[in-house]
Amino acid sequence: MWTETRVTRTLGVRLPLVQGPFGGGMSSTKLAAAVSEAGGLGSFGANHLDGARIEATIRELHGLTSRPFSINLWVPLEGERELRPSPEEFQASVERLKPWFDELGVPLPAYPSAFAPDYEEQVEAVLAMRPAVFSFIFGVPSARILEACRARGIITVGTATHVAEGLALDQAGVDLIVASGSEAGGHRACFLRPVEEAPATTALVPQLVDQVRTPVIASGGIADGRSVAMALALGAEGVQVGTAFLACEESNASDAYRRALRNPEAARATTLTRVFSGRYARGIRNRFMKELTPQERDIPPYPIQNWLTQPMRQAASRQGREDLMSLWAGQNAPLIRHSRAAELVDFLEKDTTRVLGRLAAL
Ligand SMILES: Cc1cc2nc3c(=O)[nH]c(=O)nc-3n(C[C@H](O)[C@H](O)[C@H](O)COP(=O)(O)O)c2cc1C
Repeated sequence: MWTETRVTRTLGVRLPLVQGPFGGGMSSTKLAAAVSEAGGLGSFGANHLDGARIEATIRELHGLTSRPFSINLWVPLEGERELRPSPEEFQASVERLKPWFDELGVPLPAYPSAFAPDYEEQVEAVLAMRPAVFSFIFGVPSARILEACRARGIITVGTATHVAEGLALDQAGVDLIVASGSEAGGHRACFLRPVEEAPATTALVPQLVDQVRTPVIASGGIADGRSVAMALALGAEGVQVGTAFLACEESNASDAYRRALRNPEAARATTLTRVFSGRYARGIRNRFMKELTPQERDIPPYPIQNWLTQPMRQAASRQGREDLMSLWAGQNAPLIRHSRAAELVDFLEKDTTRVLGRLAAL
Protein backbone atom coordinates (compact mmCIF):
# COMPACT_ATOMS: atom_id res chain seq x y z
CA MET A 1 0.00 0.00 0.00
CA TRP A 2 1.28 3.47 -0.91
CA THR A 3 0.12 4.73 2.48
CA GLU A 4 2.64 2.62 4.42
CA THR A 5 6.09 4.17 4.20
CA ARG A 6 9.01 5.00 6.47
CA VAL A 7 7.40 8.44 6.83
CA THR A 8 4.15 7.06 8.30
CA ARG A 9 6.09 4.68 10.56
CA THR A 10 8.39 7.43 11.82
CA LEU A 11 5.57 9.93 12.40
CA GLY A 12 3.05 7.42 13.72
CA VAL A 13 0.33 8.61 11.33
CA ARG A 14 -2.05 6.74 9.00
CA LEU A 15 -1.27 8.71 5.82
CA PRO A 16 2.07 9.98 4.47
CA LEU A 17 0.53 13.41 4.20
CA VAL A 18 1.82 16.49 6.01
CA GLN A 19 -0.05 19.79 6.19
CA GLY A 20 2.70 22.34 5.60
CA PRO A 21 3.26 24.78 8.47
CA PHE A 22 2.44 28.44 7.84
CA GLY A 23 4.52 31.03 9.64
CA GLY A 24 3.66 34.65 10.31
CA GLY A 25 0.23 33.94 11.80
CA MET A 26 -1.43 31.95 9.00
CA SER A 27 -1.41 28.63 10.90
CA SER A 28 -4.25 27.75 13.23
CA THR A 29 -4.56 25.10 15.90
CA LYS A 30 -7.94 24.22 14.38
CA LEU A 31 -6.39 23.39 10.99
CA ALA A 32 -3.46 21.42 12.44
CA ALA A 33 -5.77 19.40 14.71
CA ALA A 34 -8.25 18.73 11.86
CA VAL A 35 -5.48 17.32 9.65
CA SER A 36 -4.03 15.18 12.45
CA GLU A 37 -7.50 13.88 13.31
CA ALA A 38 -8.05 13.01 9.62
CA GLY A 39 -4.92 10.82 9.57
CA GLY A 40 -2.25 13.19 8.28
CA LEU A 41 0.27 15.28 10.22
CA GLY A 42 -1.04 18.71 11.14
CA SER A 43 1.55 21.46 11.55
CA PHE A 44 1.74 24.87 13.20
CA GLY A 45 4.24 27.49 12.02
CA ALA A 46 5.48 29.28 15.16
CA ASN A 47 8.32 31.45 13.80
CA HIS A 48 6.54 34.65 14.83
CA LEU A 49 5.75 33.56 18.43
CA ASP A 50 7.76 33.94 21.64
CA GLY A 51 8.38 31.02 24.01
CA ALA A 52 5.29 31.59 26.16
CA ARG A 53 2.95 31.73 23.16
CA ILE A 54 4.53 28.60 21.69
CA GLU A 55 3.91 26.77 24.96
CA ALA A 56 0.29 27.97 24.99
CA THR A 57 -0.19 26.88 21.36
CA ILE A 58 1.15 23.39 22.03
CA ARG A 59 -1.04 23.10 25.13
CA GLU A 60 -4.05 24.08 23.02
CA LEU A 61 -3.15 21.53 20.34
CA HIS A 62 -2.79 18.78 22.96
CA GLY A 63 -6.33 19.65 24.02
CA LEU A 64 -7.65 19.38 20.45
CA THR A 65 -6.02 16.13 19.32
CA SER A 66 -4.27 13.17 20.87
CA ARG A 67 -2.63 12.43 17.48
CA PRO A 68 0.88 13.60 16.50
CA PHE A 69 1.37 17.17 15.27
CA SER A 70 4.34 19.30 14.30
CA ILE A 71 5.66 22.67 15.49
CA ASN A 72 7.79 24.59 12.99
CA LEU A 73 10.53 27.20 13.57
CA TRP A 74 12.94 29.17 11.41
CA VAL A 75 16.62 28.55 12.17
CA PRO A 76 18.42 31.94 12.08
CA LEU A 77 20.87 32.33 9.21
CA GLU A 78 24.41 33.32 10.16
CA GLY A 79 24.61 36.94 11.32
CA GLU A 80 20.84 37.41 11.17
CA ARG A 81 20.41 37.90 14.90
CA GLU A 82 23.09 40.60 15.07
CA LEU A 83 21.51 42.78 12.36
CA ARG A 84 20.84 46.24 13.81
CA PRO A 85 20.30 49.06 11.29
CA SER A 86 21.60 52.50 12.25
CA PRO A 87 18.85 54.99 13.25
CA GLU A 88 19.31 56.69 9.84
CA GLU A 89 19.00 53.41 7.92
CA PHE A 90 15.95 52.49 9.98
CA GLN A 91 14.32 55.86 9.28
CA ALA A 92 14.97 55.56 5.53
CA SER A 93 13.37 52.08 5.50
CA VAL A 94 10.35 53.39 7.41
CA GLU A 95 9.96 56.40 5.10
CA ARG A 96 10.02 54.10 2.07
CA LEU A 97 6.84 52.41 3.37
CA LYS A 98 5.05 55.64 4.38
CA PRO A 99 2.68 55.91 1.35
CA TRP A 100 1.10 52.51 2.03
CA PHE A 101 1.00 52.99 5.83
CA ASP A 102 -0.74 56.34 5.28
CA GLU A 103 -3.22 54.81 2.87
CA LEU A 104 -4.22 52.23 5.50
CA GLY A 105 -4.16 54.74 8.37
CA VAL A 106 -1.41 52.84 10.21
CA PRO A 107 1.13 54.83 12.32
CA LEU A 108 4.78 54.41 11.31
CA PRO A 109 6.73 52.15 13.70
CA ALA A 110 9.50 53.27 16.10
CA TYR A 111 12.84 51.44 16.50
CA PRO A 112 12.10 48.18 18.38
CA SER A 113 14.10 46.35 21.04
CA ALA A 114 14.12 43.24 18.77
CA PHE A 115 13.14 42.55 15.16
CA ALA A 116 12.18 38.88 15.72
CA PRO A 117 11.44 36.55 18.65
CA ASP A 118 14.42 34.90 20.34
CA TYR A 119 15.19 31.57 18.62
CA GLU A 120 16.80 29.92 21.67
CA GLU A 121 13.74 30.77 23.76
CA GLN A 122 11.47 29.34 21.03
CA VAL A 123 13.46 26.10 20.95
CA GLU A 124 13.39 25.79 24.75
CA ALA A 125 9.58 26.07 24.63
CA VAL A 126 9.38 23.29 22.03
CA LEU A 127 11.73 21.06 24.06
CA ALA A 128 9.77 21.70 27.24
CA MET A 129 6.37 20.95 25.66
CA ARG A 130 7.49 17.90 23.64
CA PRO A 131 5.28 17.96 20.54
CA ALA A 132 5.59 14.68 18.59
CA VAL A 133 7.41 16.52 15.78
CA PHE A 134 9.71 19.55 15.52
CA SER A 135 10.19 20.78 11.95
CA PHE A 136 12.38 23.65 10.78
CA ILE A 137 13.52 25.62 7.75
CA PHE A 138 16.46 27.85 6.85
CA GLY A 139 19.09 25.62 8.37
CA VAL A 140 20.14 22.80 10.63
CA PRO A 141 19.67 23.24 14.39
CA SER A 142 22.78 22.68 16.53
CA ALA A 143 23.84 19.15 17.52
CA ARG A 144 22.82 20.03 21.10
CA ILE A 145 19.25 20.80 20.01
CA LEU A 146 18.95 17.71 17.80
CA GLU A 147 20.32 15.57 20.64
CA ALA A 148 17.84 17.13 23.09
CA CYS A 149 15.01 16.24 20.67
CA ARG A 150 16.22 12.63 20.41
CA ALA A 151 16.45 12.38 24.20
CA ARG A 152 12.82 13.56 24.49
CA GLY A 153 11.50 11.38 21.65
CA ILE A 154 10.71 14.40 19.43
CA ILE A 155 10.94 13.53 15.71
CA THR A 156 12.96 16.12 13.74
CA VAL A 157 12.07 17.22 10.20
CA GLY A 158 14.38 19.52 8.23
CA THR A 159 13.75 21.28 4.93
CA ALA A 160 16.00 21.26 1.85
CA THR A 161 15.58 23.38 -1.27
CA HIS A 162 18.77 22.00 -2.80
CA VAL A 163 20.64 18.67 -2.73
CA ALA A 164 23.49 20.27 -0.74
CA GLU A 165 21.03 21.26 2.00
CA GLY A 166 19.55 17.75 2.03
CA LEU A 167 23.02 16.29 2.49
CA ALA A 168 23.70 18.63 5.43
CA LEU A 169 20.42 17.59 7.09
CA ASP A 170 21.15 13.90 6.40
CA GLN A 171 24.61 14.17 7.95
CA ALA A 172 23.19 15.95 11.00
CA GLY A 173 20.93 12.94 11.57
CA VAL A 174 17.46 14.48 11.25
CA ASP A 175 14.65 11.91 11.07
CA LEU A 176 12.94 13.16 7.88
CA ILE A 177 13.71 15.66 5.11
CA VAL A 178 11.15 17.82 3.32
CA ALA A 179 12.35 18.46 -0.25
CA SER A 180 10.82 21.82 -1.05
CA GLY A 181 10.65 22.51 -4.80
CA SER A 182 10.45 25.98 -6.28
CA GLU A 183 6.71 25.63 -7.02
CA ALA A 184 5.99 25.91 -3.29
CA GLY A 185 4.15 28.84 -1.75
CA GLY A 186 5.76 30.98 0.94
CA HIS A 187 9.42 31.58 1.70
CA ARG A 188 12.15 29.85 -0.27
CA ALA A 189 14.00 28.30 2.66
CA CYS A 190 17.43 28.33 0.97
CA PHE A 191 20.34 28.29 3.43
CA LEU A 192 23.38 26.96 1.58
CA ARG A 193 22.72 27.91 -2.02
CA PRO A 194 21.21 30.98 -3.71
CA VAL A 195 17.49 30.99 -4.44
CA GLU A 196 18.12 30.98 -8.22
CA GLU A 197 19.75 27.53 -7.94
CA ALA A 198 16.85 25.91 -6.07
CA PRO A 199 15.20 23.36 -8.41
CA ALA A 200 11.58 22.41 -8.95
CA THR A 201 10.08 19.42 -7.11
CA THR A 202 10.53 17.09 -10.12
CA ALA A 203 14.28 17.80 -10.19
CA LEU A 204 14.95 18.06 -6.44
CA VAL A 205 13.19 14.93 -5.16
CA PRO A 206 14.83 12.21 -7.33
CA GLN A 207 18.28 13.78 -6.97
CA LEU A 208 17.90 13.96 -3.20
CA VAL A 209 16.54 10.42 -2.67
CA ASP A 210 19.55 9.12 -4.62
CA GLN A 211 21.93 10.87 -2.20
CA VAL A 212 20.48 10.48 1.30
CA ARG A 213 19.45 7.65 3.61
CA THR A 214 16.84 9.78 5.37
CA PRO A 215 13.26 9.37 4.06
CA VAL A 216 12.17 12.30 1.87
CA ILE A 217 8.83 14.16 1.88
CA ALA A 218 8.08 16.00 -1.39
CA SER A 219 6.72 19.52 -1.15
CA GLY A 220 5.84 22.18 -3.72
CA GLY A 221 2.98 21.94 -6.22
CA ILE A 222 1.24 18.94 -4.59
CA ALA A 223 -2.52 19.46 -4.84
CA ASP A 224 -4.21 16.25 -6.02
CA GLY A 225 -3.70 12.53 -6.63
CA ARG A 226 -1.69 13.14 -9.79
CA SER A 227 0.97 15.13 -7.96
CA VAL A 228 1.06 12.73 -4.96
CA ALA A 229 1.54 9.79 -7.38
CA MET A 230 4.28 11.76 -9.13
CA ALA A 231 6.07 12.40 -5.83
CA LEU A 232 5.89 8.70 -4.92
CA ALA A 233 7.20 7.76 -8.39
CA LEU A 234 10.15 10.10 -7.84
CA GLY A 235 11.05 8.25 -4.64
CA ALA A 236 9.41 10.42 -1.98
CA GLU A 237 7.80 8.52 0.90
CA GLY A 238 5.39 11.28 1.78
CA VAL A 239 4.12 14.67 0.63
CA GLN A 240 3.71 18.07 2.27
CA VAL A 241 0.83 20.21 1.03
CA GLY A 242 0.68 23.91 1.86
CA THR A 243 -1.40 26.19 -0.35
CA ALA A 244 -4.39 23.83 -0.70
CA PHE A 245 -4.68 23.62 3.13
CA LEU A 246 -4.23 27.38 3.48
CA ALA A 247 -7.36 27.84 1.35
CA CYS A 248 -9.39 25.68 3.78
CA GLU A 249 -11.74 27.47 6.16
CA GLU A 250 -9.88 26.22 9.26
CA SER A 251 -6.67 28.14 8.38
CA ASN A 252 -5.97 31.61 9.70
CA ALA A 253 -6.02 33.22 6.23
CA SER A 254 -8.46 36.14 5.92
CA ASP A 255 -11.48 35.98 3.63
CA ALA A 256 -9.75 38.30 1.16
CA TYR A 257 -6.70 36.01 1.09
CA ARG A 258 -8.85 32.92 0.57
CA ARG A 259 -10.72 34.70 -2.23
CA ALA A 260 -7.44 35.46 -3.98
CA LEU A 261 -6.31 31.82 -3.65
CA ARG A 262 -9.60 30.67 -5.17
CA ASN A 263 -9.39 33.07 -8.11
CA PRO A 264 -7.50 31.05 -10.76
CA GLU A 265 -6.64 34.17 -12.75
CA ALA A 266 -4.89 35.77 -9.74
CA ALA A 267 -3.45 32.49 -8.47
CA ARG A 268 -1.73 31.77 -11.78
CA ALA A 269 0.31 34.95 -11.35
CA THR A 270 2.65 33.94 -8.51
CA THR A 271 6.18 35.26 -8.37
CA LEU A 272 9.20 35.35 -6.07
CA THR A 273 9.62 38.60 -4.18
CA ARG A 274 11.56 39.96 -1.21
CA VAL A 275 9.60 43.18 -0.83
CA PHE A 276 7.48 41.96 2.09
CA SER A 277 10.06 40.30 4.33
CA GLY A 278 13.54 40.93 2.96
CA ARG A 279 13.73 37.28 1.86
CA TYR A 280 12.45 35.61 -1.28
CA ALA A 281 9.01 34.07 -1.05
CA ARG A 282 6.43 32.96 -3.63
CA GLY A 283 3.13 34.80 -3.65
CA ILE A 284 0.37 36.17 -5.83
CA ARG A 285 1.48 39.34 -7.56
CA ASN A 286 -0.34 42.38 -6.20
CA ARG A 287 -0.07 46.15 -6.13
CA PHE A 288 2.41 46.42 -3.23
CA MET A 289 4.75 43.98 -5.00
CA LYS A 290 4.53 45.94 -8.24
CA GLU A 291 5.04 49.31 -6.55
CA LEU A 292 7.97 48.36 -4.29
CA THR A 293 9.83 46.00 -6.65
CA PRO A 294 11.72 48.85 -8.39
CA GLN A 295 13.31 49.57 -4.95
CA GLU A 296 13.86 45.88 -4.09
CA ARG A 297 17.65 46.28 -3.98
CA ASP A 298 17.41 48.97 -1.30
CA ILE A 299 15.08 47.27 1.14
CA PRO A 300 16.67 45.90 4.34
CA PRO A 301 17.21 42.16 4.89
CA TYR A 302 15.08 39.77 6.95
CA PRO A 303 14.04 40.11 9.74
CA ILE A 304 14.06 43.92 9.50
CA GLN A 305 11.80 44.33 6.45
CA ASN A 306 9.53 41.57 7.78
CA TRP A 307 9.14 43.44 11.08
CA LEU A 308 8.60 46.78 9.29
CA THR A 309 5.84 45.58 6.95
CA GLN A 310 4.02 43.52 9.59
CA PRO A 311 1.65 46.28 10.84
CA MET A 312 0.83 47.19 7.24
CA ARG A 313 0.10 43.58 6.25
CA GLN A 314 -2.03 43.04 9.35
CA ALA A 315 -4.03 46.22 8.74
CA ALA A 316 -4.49 45.31 5.05
CA SER A 317 -5.74 41.88 6.11
CA ARG A 318 -8.22 43.40 8.61
CA GLN A 319 -9.45 45.88 5.98
CA GLY A 320 -9.79 43.20 3.28
CA ARG A 321 -7.16 44.93 1.13
CA GLU A 322 -5.56 42.15 -0.92
CA ASP A 323 -3.54 44.77 -2.84
CA LEU A 324 -1.37 45.41 0.26
CA MET A 325 -1.26 41.95 1.92
CA SER A 326 1.33 39.24 1.40
CA LEU A 327 -0.58 36.55 -0.53
CA TRP A 328 1.85 33.61 -0.32
CA ALA A 329 0.73 30.87 -2.69
CA GLY A 330 2.25 27.98 -4.64
CA GLN A 331 2.09 27.45 -8.38
CA ASN A 332 -0.65 24.84 -8.11
CA ALA A 333 -3.13 27.12 -6.33
CA PRO A 334 -5.43 27.10 -9.39
CA LEU A 335 -6.11 23.40 -8.64
CA ILE A 336 -7.68 24.19 -5.23
CA ARG A 337 -11.16 22.62 -4.92
CA HIS A 338 -11.78 21.89 -1.23
CA SER A 339 -12.71 24.17 1.61
CA ARG A 340 -12.55 21.82 4.63
CA ALA A 341 -9.32 20.19 5.79
CA ALA A 342 -10.80 16.73 6.44
CA GLU A 343 -12.36 16.72 2.97
CA LEU A 344 -9.03 17.65 1.42
CA VAL A 345 -7.24 14.84 3.28
CA ASP A 346 -9.93 12.38 2.19
CA PHE A 347 -9.73 13.61 -1.42
CA LEU A 348 -5.92 13.33 -1.51
CA GLU A 349 -6.07 9.77 -0.19
CA LYS A 350 -8.81 8.59 -2.58
CA ASP A 351 -7.55 10.48 -5.62
CA THR A 352 -4.02 9.10 -5.16
CA THR A 353 -5.37 5.55 -4.90
CA ARG A 354 -7.42 6.19 -8.07
CA VAL A 355 -4.46 7.61 -10.03
CA LEU A 356 -2.11 4.81 -8.94
CA GLY A 357 -4.78 2.24 -9.94
CA ARG A 358 -5.14 3.86 -13.34
CA LEU A 359 -1.36 3.82 -13.85
CA ALA A 360 -1.12 0.17 -12.80
CA ALA A 361 -3.73 -0.72 -15.42
CA LEU A 362 -1.80 0.89 -18.29
C1 LIG B 1 1.47 31.35 3.83
C2 LIG B 1 2.57 30.32 3.88
C3 LIG B 1 3.44 30.34 4.97
C4 LIG B 1 4.43 29.35 5.07
N1 LIG B 1 5.26 29.36 6.17
C5 LIG B 1 6.12 28.33 6.35
C6 LIG B 1 6.89 28.24 7.54
O1 LIG B 1 6.83 29.09 8.45
N2 LIG B 1 7.70 27.15 7.70
C7 LIG B 1 7.80 26.16 6.73
O2 LIG B 1 8.51 25.19 6.93
N3 LIG B 1 7.11 26.26 5.58
C8 LIG B 1 6.27 27.30 5.37
N4 LIG B 1 5.53 27.37 4.22
C9 LIG B 1 5.65 26.29 3.21
C10 LIG B 1 4.56 25.23 3.42
O3 LIG B 1 4.64 24.66 4.69
C11 LIG B 1 4.65 24.12 2.37
O4 LIG B 1 5.87 23.44 2.43
C12 LIG B 1 4.47 24.66 0.97
O5 LIG B 1 3.38 25.55 0.94
C13 LIG B 1 4.22 23.50 0.01
O6 LIG B 1 4.06 23.91 -1.30
P1 LIG B 1 2.60 24.25 -1.94
O7 LIG B 1 2.28 25.61 -1.44
O8 LIG B 1 2.85 24.24 -3.41
O9 LIG B 1 1.65 23.20 -1.47
C14 LIG B 1 4.57 28.36 4.06
C15 LIG B 1 3.71 28.38 2.94
C16 LIG B 1 2.72 29.35 2.84
C17 LIG B 1 1.80 29.31 1.64
